[in-house]
Amino acid sequence: MKTVLVTGGLGFIGSNFIRMLFGLARGLRVINLDKQTYAGNPENLAGLEKDERYQAVTGDIGDEGLVSRLLDENMPDTVVNFAAESHVDRSIDGPEPFIETNVLGTLRLLEASRKFFAELTPQEKESFRFLHVSTDEVYGSLGPEDPAFCEKTPYAPNSPYSASKAGADHLVRAYFHTYGFPVLTTNCSNNYGPFQFPEKLIPLMILNACEGKNLPLYGDGGNVRDWLHVEDHCSGIVAVLEKGRLGETYCIGGNSEKTNLQIVDAICALLDEKRPDGAPHVDLKTFVKDRPGHDRRYAIDCSKIKEEIGWEPRYSFEEGIAQTVDWYLDNSTWCENVTSGNYQRERLGIS
Ligand code: NAD
Ligand code: DAU
Repeated sequence: MKTVLVTGGLGFIGSNFIRMLFGLARGLRVINLDKQTYAGNPENLAGLEKDERYQAVTGDIGDEGLVSRLLDENMPDTVVNFAAESHVDRSIDGPEPFIETNVLGTLRLLEASRKFFAELTPQEKESFRFLHVSTDEVYGSLGPEDPAFCEKTPYAPNSPYSASKAGADHLVRAYFHTYGFPVLTTNCSNNYGPFQFPEKLIPLMILNACEGKNLPLYGDGGNVRDWLHVEDHCSGIVAVLEKGRLGETYCIGGNSEKTNLQIVDAICALLDEKRPDGAPHVDLKTFVKDRPGHDRRYAIDCSKIKEEIGWEPRYSFEEGIAQTVDWYLDNSTWCENVTSGNYQRERLGIS
């Protein structure tokens, strides 16, 4: 990789990925196309603004003209598509932005990239990669004894979010089969770690617990997710870019299935130790109305990426959650700017 067009790089995973790229290769250039929705936070990449290897562009992956111009001007050898509406609850409240960005946006990004690819020299074509970042949610919901999802599991999305990601995945697949466009797809489990927007389970629970607010568990708290530290997801994407077979999909997971109750209990125990004033934090647990259509269990069998590519997660859940709790405690300014909405002041032109 020499020049990488990253989309959605101001979000949680994209910003961690860009930091990781610069740590891996000094000579690399990154163009970050991000619409700066509520989930896009420039503070996630604070310090990079003045780095000449980095260019931030505010714009929509659905703007084919803009994407084409960025491709022609920068001649990337790699495109990594993180841009998406990513929160299931928001997709239940209003599905349309999910179709706009996740389906139509991905289609337009693919179309601009395919036209760009068609004009490359044979040598440039050889090294070009388009990696689409997707989710395990496209596979639906597992029962307690079902085998984990793998690349051959049939798609069965249950929420507007996962349906929109499934639609995007199918388009990416079709571009390989129809046009010979060099794609790779990753389907990853639940990420956690620094810079995650506090509408998602783990950061929401950490920040609520610190403020003595209720910890709202949907339903009986028994839903299971497979948790992966964001740095492990990013290293998996790098590994797939380097060694993945074109047209293939790779499942990425943390081998770490936990119920939501287990997650919240782990966070509370860490906070009791690190912030004893509000202890015991478990007293804040509250069971609330379930999410409609709530998938019961996700689990990932990541033997394909392990055997073909040699990738494995490095964090145990215990290490990862302790590091994540510490990060939120140590980065109170970031947290305050997000919860107060201050991180959006510049974009909204508020002085
Ligand atoms: P996020 O919501 O934190 O960030 C999404 C980013 O995309 C934001 O910066 C936002 O401004 C940008 N964006 C949204 N619409 C855009 C558009 N039309 N054009 C350009 N930019 C746009 O999401 P995340 O958690 O970092 O997830 C990144 C990707 O990884 C998503 O595709 C998501 O489906 C996938 N994924 C997430 C997880 C997870 O646990 N968070 C797990 C597996 C896969
Ligand atoms: O599996 C990968 C997916 O993980 C990604 O594709 C999504 O972008 C990402 O948001 C995540 O989806 P989930 O719906 O699993 O994540 P969320 O953090 O919203 O919820 C995790 C679990 O916690 C889920 O069972 C719902 C539950 N939950 C969530 C919230 C926000 C609660 O019980 N209470 C809450 O307040």
